[in-house]
Formats: sequence, C-alpha cells, structure tokens
Amino acid sequence: MAENVIPYDAPTEIKELEIVNVYELEKEAEKIVPKGGYDYISGASGDEYTKKQNIESFNHRNIVPRVMADVENPDTSTSILGTDIKAPFIMAPIAAHGLAHETKEAGTARGVSEFGTIMSISAYSGASFKEIEEGLNGSPRWFQLYMSKDDGLNKDIVDEAIADGATAIILTADATLSGNREKDVRNKFVYPFGMPIVSRYLTGTGKNMSLNNIYAQSKQKISPRDVDFLASYSGLPVFVKGIQSPDDANIAIGAGASGIWVSNHGGRQLDGAPGSFDTLPGIAEAVQKRVPIVFDSGIRRGEHVFKAIASGADVVAIGRPALYGLALGGWKGVKSVFDYFHQDLIRVMQLSGTQTVEDIKNTRLFENPWG
Ligand code: FNR
Ligand code: LAC
Repeated sequence: MAENVIPYDAPTEIKELEIVNVYELEKEAEKIVPKGGYDYISGASGDEYTKKQNIESFNHRNIVPRVMADVENPDTSTSILGTDIKAPFIMAPIAAHGLAHETKEAGTARGVSEFGTIMSISAYSGASFKEIEEGLNGSPRWFQLYMSKDDGLNKDIVDEAIADGATAIILTADATLSGNREKDVRNKFVYPFGMPIVSRYLTGTGKNMSLNNIYAQSKQKISPRDVDFLASYSGLPVFVKGIQSPDDANIAIGAGASGIWVSNHGGRQLDGAPGSFDTLPGIAEAVQKRVPIVFDSGIRRGEHVFKAIASGADVVAIGRPALYGLALGGWKGVKSVFDYFHQDLIRVMQLSGTQTVEDIKNTRLFENPWG
C-alpha cells in the first residue's frame, strides 16, 4: 500500500457567500482547496479549448431586450418529469465532493434541497446514499450511473438508488475513459477517499485510485442496449447524458430514453468538441419535444440559463460553480450559488420582458453573425 499518501485537508467552513459573479468563486476556492483536488475540479482536457468554448459559445446567440412587455416580478418556477422546482436549474452529477469540503455530498445536497431543486447523485460520490440523505432530507434526487461491466451489479445499484428515492436515472455515456487531463497526470491525482456506491465493482474502494483506473473497471462500451436495459429494469425515466449530436439524441430516444442531457462534461472529455451551447439548437430540433432536455457545460450567469432555455432546454444543470460554493461555505455556500443564479435569472427575465419559464421557451434569440 502507498505509505506516501499525503493526508487530504478539505475545507471545513460553513457560511453564506456574497457573490458578485461565480467566476470569482473559482479564484477564491483555489486558495483553500488542496492543489490536487482543485486542479481535478477546475481542470479540463488537452488545451482546455472546449472548456473555454463552453462559455464563449453563449455569445453566438443574443437576447433582445423587450421593453413593452408589461412584466413585473418574473416567476422562475417550473417542473421537470413531474417534479416542481423553484427555478429551471438543478445540480449536475459530480464525483467526489469531499475534495471541496469535509461535508462531502451531504453538504451539497442540503444547499440544493434548501434552495428547492433536484440533486443529482453521482455513482462516484464519496458519500453513501444514507449519508447524502442527511443533507437531502427527503428532497427530490436523480441518480447518475457509471455502469459496471456486470449487469447483476448494475441491478443491485439501481435497486439501491430506487430504494433511496431516485425518480430518474442519468446514464452518462461520454465518459468511458477519461479525457486527456494533463493537470491530473502531472499531479498524479488519485482520490483520497473511497466511492461507496460503486466500490462493489472496483478492485479497491476507490481510495488512492486514479480516475482512469476506476473508468477501466466500469463499463467502457455503452450502447443503446444499455439504455433499454436500464429503462426496462428500473421502470424509471432514463436520461442519456453527454449527447452532443442530433443523431445520438435520436438513437437514445429510439432505445427508450425519456430524456436527453446535452453536455460535453464541462470540457473534461473530448477536447476540440464544440461549445456545448452551440450543439443545443440542432439537438432540440431533432428531439422535437418528444422528451425533456437538460443542458449543461458552461452555465455561469442568468443569461446563460436564459439562452439555453430559449434554445430548447427544459432545465439546465449547475456544475463547477456549486462545488466552489461548497468549498467556500459548505451547504450555505451551495445555497448562495443557487440563490445567485435565481436572482440573476430574475433580472434577465425582467430585462428581456419574460414573465415565466414558458415565455423564455417561446423567446427567439438573435443569431449573432459576428459572435
Ligand atoms: C463532473 N461531471 C460528471 N458527470 C457525470 O455524469 N458523473 C460524474 O461523476 C461527474 N463528475 C464530475 C466531476 C467534476 C469535478 C466535474 C467538474 C464534472 C460533469 C458534470 O456533470 C457536468 O457535465 C459539468 O460539470 C458541466 O460543466 P461546468 O458547467 O461545470 O463547467
Ligand atoms: C469526471 C468524472 C468522474 O469528470 O465524471 O471527473
């Protein structure tokens, strides 16, 4: 065993955050999160071109101000697959929250549930379902699966997620091996704690293991048959996450997906992929509202939430900013991040003359020829 493993001192503070914008949270988090963990969370693959494009691509379509719209006190509430949420955003599935804060996923879960939206629980969580429930306290949750090569074990994991109260399964299809994350290579990054949900299919618990080692022990060949298997076995709606092409959206729906999750994994997988927002309109056109669409990768402002919903998403998912909030202020920091997005979206809705989420969906963005 590796005796040279350095203890991992995750941040511990619990406090509300005053947020001007979430880009600044990243810089603050860098000061207190141990380097290996910070680089893992913030880093992406290759030149980090795709990660940058995720934000840049929002400039390709603009929101036209509407001033004669008779709007006051916009209403951000909406629902997805029958679950009412306070605003059209949810928590993205993210592995190993314990890198950001000692309260791990339970901290994030409490912030998300006190705000009033859906928590996505990653298969690679560093906390068990029971520990996460302490933060969730009965609030809605979806479960994201990284499959085992053994379908018997997949059934066991799905059974536990259902018993835990998951109302949807997210099948992540874009991460059967890791993108070329040079920072993790340089840091020789390994997780400093185990992964209780998937340890049953790993040679160890996950502790002191690299991501590529863990991916290699997970199922590396994901096909439409897996979508069909999960939908029929679980009886739950299955989202396929990591969709960037209209053809894949059609294949996933044909295989029984009840939702499409447009994402490029925050630029952590295939570098050189387009900004995720640039892929959304074509996918929405292919989906034709047959199933709901979740969008992520690059959401940092209310304008981004608005533009994604005006381009065909039903809700968006918040990723890294929530983890920075967790690092800086535990569950209260996570809630501050969700409150920030809420306030920012209300401002954008008012300035664009939209009263409801339905109005945002019916808004036509301006195609920026110079963007
Ligand atoms: C992720 N993401 C991810 N996705 C997933 O399906 N399962 C997982 O376990 C993880 N783990 C994970 C860890 C970290 C540290 C990050 C930053 C991301 C991807 C995540 O769900 C989402 O697609 C991205 O976070 C979106 O990009 P932004 O907006 O966070 O930059
Ligand atoms: C990541 C995984 C675990 O992006 O999805 O690090």
